[in-house]
Amino acid sequence: MKLLLMFYFLGMSFFGYFLAPQKSKAESIKNGSEIYHDFCYRCHGINGVGQDDLIPPLKSSDYLMNNIDLSIAGLKYGLKGKITVNGIVYDSYMAYQGLDNDEIADVMNYILNQWENINEGFITAQQVEKIPKSILEK
Ligand code: HEC
Repeated sequence: MKLLLMFYFLGMSFFGYFLAPQKSKAESIKNGSEIYHDFCYRCHGINGVGQDDLIPPLKSSDYLMNNIDLSIAGLKYGLKGKITVNGIVYDSYMAYQGLDNDEIADVMNYILNQWENINEGFITAQQVEKIPKSILEK
């Protein structure tokens, strides 16, 4: 009986490991918060408001909220040239920040759900993986 129980628990932890659901949205946002404060806030600001006409805001940014794939691509490959955010044209450059797909997903989930931003979706590393550089070339 003891042996059976042992196999049962071993089996459960085995399946638990492989079938475990991916991290929750709340966990992703929590990781994303750390990434934001390490990599992004020095430019986009602690409240996501950006800096004058030099750095675009993330808070209530129509670019971010309406172009999620483009925003992911910007983080994955770097973003250069003219973009319009809330009616203001920025013509600047954001370097690739060295984040992997999982980290990009986490920081996207964070910025999409901070500072009054609300997004029902959940960005995953698999989704980030699929975004090609070509969508940035207009
Ligand atoms: C060195 C400053 C700098 C850092 C660090 C930086 N950005 Fe940016 N970011 C910019 C600039 C400048 C632009 C506009 C680029 C352009 O004009 O083409 C931009 C554009 C964006 C955009 C699209 C426009 C918008 O405002 O919605 C998003 C989304 C974004 N950044 C998110 C992030 C995230 C997330 C991080 C951290 C992982 C980050 N940025 C780190 C400077 C920075």
